[in-house]
Amino acid sequence: MAEHDDEMLSSSSAVEKHGASASAGTAILPADPFENPGEPPHRPRRTDVDPKKQRLAERQVATFFYVSIICSILSVAAYVAFPIQQNDFGTVRTANLFLGLAIALALLSMGLGAVYWSKTLVVDREIAEMRHPTRGSETTRAKAVEAFQLADKESGFSRRKLIRNSIIGALAAFPLPGIVLVRDLAPAADPNELLRHTMWKKGTRLTKDPTGLPIKASDVTLGSVFHVIPEGLLQKEDMLEEKAKAAVLLMRLDPNDLHEPKGRENWQYNGIVAYSKICTHVGCPVALYEQQTHHLLCPCHQSTFDVSHNCEVIFGPASRPLPQLPITVDAEGYLVAQSDFHEPVGPSFWERDR
Ligand code: FES
Repeated sequence: MAEHDDEMLSSSSAVEKHGASASAGTAILPADPFENPGEPPHRPRRTDVDPKKQRLAERQVATFFYVSIICSILSVAAYVAFPIQQNDFGTVRTANLFLGLAIALALLSMGLGAVYWSKTLVVDREIAEMRHPTRGSETTRAKAVEAFQLADKESGFSRRKLIRNSIIGALAAFPLPGIVLVRDLAPAADPNELLRHTMWKKGTRLTKDPTGLPIKASDVTLGSVFHVIPEGLLQKEDMLEEKAKAAVLLMRLDPNDLHEPKGRENWQYNGIVAYSKICTHVGCPVALYEQQTHHLLCPCHQSTFDVSHNCEVIFGPASRPLPQLPITVDAEGYLVAQSDFHEPVGPSFWERDR
């Protein structure tokens, strides 16, 4: 307490000094009409006055940190115990669940331990730090200028123009490898072409995601929605890349509710329509279908598309409709694509230069 009172005294005198110098420097300003109330009186915690409570708190803090250690070790064990098998999403989910849980608990325990430590054992004396100008004193500034001038003189930076210009050139050229590396992130083939085309082509069956089972038109009841991938996708090496472009949503509406644009009347089959699942805003999967209103909602930024009107945007930041996949049925009654999409799927920037 005595220490605290000292602190308060020094704070008050600092305030007084500050006020005095302010009024000396700015004589036209009136004196501060409010008295500085100072810090509230310090209230000692139980751990400040009871050594037993202090030891208990110490053990509790250590327990949090030990729990964190155990969880970190468990996260490594989870990594080993739940390996990810290629193309098996079940193993990805299990590994992520246990790894995430263990890491989250390790971080949480560490955080709780640190907070509890500061609340119970770290000295909680209140301190007021007065504001002051950050500009250095004239002497400090003069010394800094002097140091620069001396460095310039001793290195000959201004004098030796050849070295000066070449080092400026070297620094300017240094980011170039970064540009090359960024360019390397794109595929070797023309990225515009890669993004323009998907796996869909004439006769490709529409299959359920993630089982890959083909879908018969008779399976699609009125009002239902299917998450769809092209047949053969699961066997592809670059399955995820292809899926990111080719994922489709399949819905069945009453044909009387559909308002297709001219030339697209035969892109649907008995009210069954297929649209790209990749949002035209920034590419999230559009996944929420409102059966009654025929609206598709993107959960990322709430772009809303009207399926009954060619998936036009009726709300949100997306700037163009979801691309439609023309579909029909084959001889066995399975739904098949008539062709690839007629426009690029996903965010609109892909087609900007066309
Ligand atoms: S990604 Fe769909 S609204 Fe933004």
